[in-house]
Amino acid sequence: MTSQTFSTSPVLTVSHVGMKFLNRSVLEDIELTIGAGEFIGLIGPNGAGKSTLLRILLGLQKPTRGTVEILGSPVRRGNRYIGYVPQKIHLDPATPLSGRDLAGLGLDGHRYGIAFFNRKRHAQIDEALEMVDARHLADAPVGRLSGGEQQRLLIAQALLTHPQILLLDEPLSNLDIKSAREVVRLVARIQREHGVTVILVAHDMNPLIDVMDRIIYLAQGRAAIGPVDVVVQSDVLSTLYGYPVEVIRTRNRILVVGGQDSGIEDFSVTGGEHCHGTEVLST
Ligand SMILES: Nc1ncnc2c1ncn2[C@@H]1O[C@H](COP(=O)(O)OP(=O)(O)O)[C@@H](O)[C@H]1O
Ligand SMILES: [Mg+2]
Repeated sequence: MTSQTFSTSPVLTVSHVGMKFLNRSVLEDIELTIGAGEFIGLIGPNGAGKSTLLRILLGLQKPTRGTVEILGSPVRRGNRYIGYVPQKIHLDPATPLSGRDLAGLGLDGHRYGIAFFNRKRHAQIDEALEMVDARHLADAPVGRLSGGEQQRLLIAQALLTHPQILLLDEPLSNLDIKSAREVVRLVARIQREHGVTVILVAHDMNPLIDVMDRIIYLAQGRAAIGPVDVVVQSDVLSTLYGYPVEVIRTRNRILVVGGQDSGIEDFSVTGGEHCHGTEVLST
């Protein structure tokens, strides 16, 4: 029911991964192989286990069973080849941090001598700010910036170590459509220009339709992976959810609608049945 095909060598292999919290199963027998330079959307309703899966890929959470290999080695914490943008952090409007401070938080200074480190650090942060078009935000107080600007600085932070893989957890939540579109464009450009493999978590697939190479759809602890047109089908998703859901394609968006009830609500609100979908990108 899914497609694992891609044209490049694998950077990430997940084999038979399962995750239980107490006795509750959150992920069951997840199998994924992701190729170098792919843009993957990791999509699913709230509570589906998206963040848990990312944390397993980062070595922050040990799976109950199964294995993960990244760039040919078993997963481990603090891998500098993986950049991570965690789920929304709240920045106090009064925080004294500047854009440069926030972008630079990911740098580990211990490996360098102080003078060398200061020069090198400055240059590295400048480069990362450049990559996200945020040089002009270097001296701005981050607490006063818009959600989209803050998100760009967090992406710059994740890029400091020149990662080959970039994991972003719900970077579009809390952004208006225009800012979300800008963040998606930015991430797609980084993927293209730097050959970075991207896994971007979202509860709504629509803003990613134009840029995703493949989708991982997560529901009821199970995953389907493949091109959107293969995975986002009523039969595939009904099997995943374990009850009938309907996929409706309108002119500019895809909706997934639960079969049991007449009510239509956003998955992100109900965390379960019914419908999700917002504006698709028009580029
Ligand atoms: N450390 C934990 N201990 C217990 N339950 C957890 C823990 N982390 C996540 N969960 C549970 O696992 C499920 C999946 O969570 P999560 O991965 O955050 O979902 P998503 O990111 O898709 O919204 C949720 O029901 C959540 O409560
Ligand atoms: Mg989450």
